Amino acid sequence: MYVCMCVCVCVCLLVCSVAGGGVWCDCSKEGMEMEGGHYTLSNGLSPGSLLVYQCPPDYYPYPSLTRECLSNMWKDPPRHERVRAHQQCRLVECPDPHVLQYGTVYPPEVKYFVNNETTYECDSGYRLRGSERRVCLENGKWSGSTPICSRDDVNNHCPDPGIPPGSSRSGNIFDIDDEVIYRCNDANVMYMVGSKVRTCKEGGEWTGTEPACFYKYTYDTAQDISQDFGDGMQLSLTMMKSVDDIQGERMIRISKNGILNIYIAVDISDSLKPEDIKKSKTMVHNLISRIASYSVSPNYDIVFFTSAIEHIANIVDYYTGQVHQTLEILLENLDKFEIKTNRAGTNLNAVFAHILQQIALIKANSKDNFDEQHHVILTFTDGGYNMGGSPVNNLERIKAAIPKKDHLDVYVFAVGAKIYENYLMPLVTEDRGRHFFRINKETMESMFDEIFDDGEVVSLCGLHKTADSRGTKQKMYPWNVEINIKLQKCFGSIVSPKYVLTAAHCLIGAVSPDITVDIMNRNYALEMERFYSHSEYNYKAKRDQGISEFHDYDIALLELTTAVNFSVDVRPICIPCTKETTQAIRMPLHSKCSEQGYNTRMTPRDLTTRRPCIMEATKLPNITAENVHTVVTDNFLCTGGISPSVDHIACKGDSGGAVFKDTNQRTIQIGVVSWGTELLCETGSLEKSTKTSRDFHLNLFKVMEFLHDVMATETKTVAATEFIDNWNS
Ligand SMILES: *[C@@H]1O[C@H](CO)[C@@H](O)[C@H](O)[C@H]1NC(C)=O
Ligand SMILES: *[C@@H]1O[C@H](CO)[C@@H](O)[C@H](O)[C@H]1NC(C)=O
Ligand SMILES: *[C@@H]1O[C@H](CO)[C@@H](O)[C@H](O)[C@H]1NC(C)=O
Repeated sequence: MYVCMCVCVCVCLLVCSVAGGGVWCDCSKEGMEMEGGHYTLSNGLSPGSLLVYQCPPDYYPYPSLTRECLSNMWKDPPRHERVRAHQQCRLVECPDPHVLQYGTVYPPEVKYFVNNETTYECDSGYRLRGSERRVCLENGKWSGSTPICSRDDVNNHCPDPGIPPGSSRSGNIFDIDDEVIYRCNDANVMYMVGSKVRTCKEGGEWTGTEPACFYKYTYDTAQDISQDFGDGMQLSLTMMKSVDDIQGERMIRISKNGILNIYIAVDISDSLKPEDIKKSKTMVHNLISRIASYSVSPNYDIVFFTSAIEHIANIVDYYTGQVHQTLEILLENLDKFEIKTNRAGTNLNAVFAHILQQIALIKANSKDNFDEQHHVILTFTDGGYNMGGSPVNNLERIKAAIPKKDHLDVYVFAVGAKIYENYLMPLVTEDRGRHFFRINKETMESMFDEIFDDGEVVSLCGLHKTADSRGTKQKMYPWNVEINIKLQKCFGSIVSPKYVLTAAHCLIGAVSPDITVDIMNRNYALEMERFYSHSEYNYKAKRDQGISEFHDYDIALLELTTAVNFSVDVRPICIPCTKETTQAIRMPLHSKCSEQGYNTRMTPRDLTTRRPCIMEATKLPNITAENVHTVVTDNFLCTGGISPSVDHIACKGDSGGAVFKDTNQRTIQIGVVSWGTELLCETGSLEKSTKTSRDFHLNLFKVMEFLHDVMATETKTVAATEFIDNWNS
C-alpha cells in the first residue's frame, strides 16, 4: 500500500482522503496534455479516474490510449517498452501486408498508414483469390479480404487459408486433419482475434474463422459487426425459424420449434453518467428489435452489472410461466431501467456464475427437451474485472452443463477506451465464426442497425432503418416510390412484390403508358402493367352540391410487370389484415380485421378528437357544418392541428404517400394521403402542422374489400397476397 500521507504533507497541493484502509490522493493535471489531441477524465482528478486520450480522425494516441489515477500518479497500463515516449497523436497504421506468399505487394513500403493503397499480384502460375487492391482504413484494418496466391494444379483437400496481414502461419499442408497455426508478428503491440488454430475438415473447409491482428486502437465498424456477428447470430436464429417445404405438390411452412436462450450482460461500471446507461439500453433495445424482426422469439436473460448484478429480464420466467414475459414488457422494462446505486468495480465472474445458475434452473424446468436447446451468451465489457476473479472456471462449468458443444455460443464485445483483451479472449467460443469484437463506445447505439439485412429478411414488410443510422432517407422509407404522370407527381408505397398503393386522384385521365414508377436515387423505373382505381371513386360526384372535388375512395393499386427485387432500400410496407402483418404485430390469425385498427392504436385520432379535426374543413368554399360529414366521410382519417400532438403536414405532391404507424418494430400503412385544407409546403419537406391545417387520408381499414379483391387474386404474373380469414369483419 502506497503511503500517501507523507507526500501530502510535503507537497501540500494534493487532496487526499481515507478510504478502503488506505489513504488516497488526487492526481494533478500537470504534464498530461498531448500534442495534437486532448483528454477526458472519467472522474476528475480523483483516485480511480480514467484519463482517456482523444485524437482527431485518422490518428490514435501514442504511447498510451488511457492512463489511470492510482494514489496520486497517472499510471500506464502495463507495457513492454521501458522508456515512456512523449505522448502524441500518431497516424493510424495498418498491419504489414508483406506476408503474401507467392506474390508481390505494391508499392513496397516499410509502413502503411491510413488511406495508403496497396495492390497485389501473384507470381506466374499462381492465381489470386481475395482483394487485388486494399486501402488502409481509419479503424486500423485493410479494406476487402486477404489476398491469397495459390496454384490450381496442386491437389489440396482444403484451399490455401492464406496469411492475414501482420501475422505468420505454421503449417503448409492442407489435407484432411492438417492444422495451421497463426501468430501476430509483433506480439508487443498486436493481439490476435479469430481462430489461432484451424483444421482442414473432411468437407474441404477450415474450422473456425480467419484470424486478424489488431492493434490496441483497431476497432470493428458496424459493417464488420453486421457481417461477422450477423452471420453467426443468423445461424442460431435460423434454427428457430420455420422453413418452406414441398409436401406432395403443396408448399407448406414447417415450424422448427427450436428453443434459443439469449443471455445479455452489459458492464455499466464505466457508465457514470445517465447518458451512458441510456446508450447501453438503446444498444440492447436495438439488438432485441433486430432479432424480433427476424420473426423469431428467443428467451432472454438481461443483466446490467458492476460489482453487483441488476436483473432486467429473468429467463426462468419463460419456463415457470409465473410471469408472462412478452417482448413488449421486456423492452418496456429495459427502457424503464435505472441504476439504483452507483457501485464501482466490475465483477464479470458474478455474471458467469449467474448464467450458470440460470442454465441449471432452465434444465430443472424443462421437460425433456433441454438437450435440444441452444444458448447464446453476449457480454459487453472492457474486461477489467477487478473483483470476483476470472470467469474462466464458471465458463467451463457452463460448457459442461450444455450437452452439445455446438449448442453454446459465447460472444464478447469489448467496449470502452481501455480493454483487457488478454482476459477476454479466453471467454469466447470460436468454432463457429468470430465471437470477439472490439467496439467503440460512440458507435454502440447504432452498431446492430445493419445486422440481418439480407436474403429472406429484406422481403419482410415494414422493416426499415431508424433515423440515427447512417442510412439514407430511402432506407428509412424503403417502401416509398415516386409516381410520375406526365408533369404531375405523386407518391406511392410498395405493398407487395407486385403492387404499389397510391391515390386514385393521381391517375385521373391517365393511361398506363404515361405512368412511371420511380425509386429515389435509382436510375431505373419499375415497369407497370396496369392499374386499378377504386370503382366508387368519382371526384365529380358532388358537383351538383357545389363541391368541385370529392375524394371518397381515393385509392388505387398499380400492378407491376415484374416482381420488385427487394433490398435494404427497396422493400414493402405492411398493410392491414394480411397474414404477414397480423403475425408481425403479434395478433392471433383468427382475430378480426377491425380489431387490428383499434387494439394496436393504429388510428391517428380517436373518436373524441375526430370532430374538431374535421370541422376545419368548413373553412373551404361550399363546405358547411351541415355537409362536412358527407364530404369528409367516415372513410377518411384526419391529421393536423397542434393538439393533442403536432403532425407533419402533407405538402403539394405528397398525395398517394403512406400514412403509417410503427408497431413492434414493424411499420403498417393505415392510410393514403388524399387531400388537405391548406397548401403550406412543397413536396417532401417535413413541415409541422399549423393550428388550422388539416389533412385527410383514406383509411385502409375502410377499403379492405378493394385491397383484398385486387391483391388476393392470383393472376398469371402475380402470386396472391394472403389475407386473414376475417379480413372482412
Ligand atoms: C502513405 O500515407 C502517408 C501518410 O499520409 C503519406 O505520407 C505517404 O506518401 C503515403 N504513401 C503512399 C505510397 O501513398
Ligand atoms: C359553391 O357552390 C355554388 C353553387 O352550387 C357554385 O356556383 C360555386 O362554384 C361553388 N364554389 C366553389 C369554389 O366550388
Ligand atoms: C431481379 O433479379 C433477377 C435475378 O437476379 C433479375 O433477373 C431481374 O432482372 C431483376 N429485376 C429487376 C427489376 O431488377
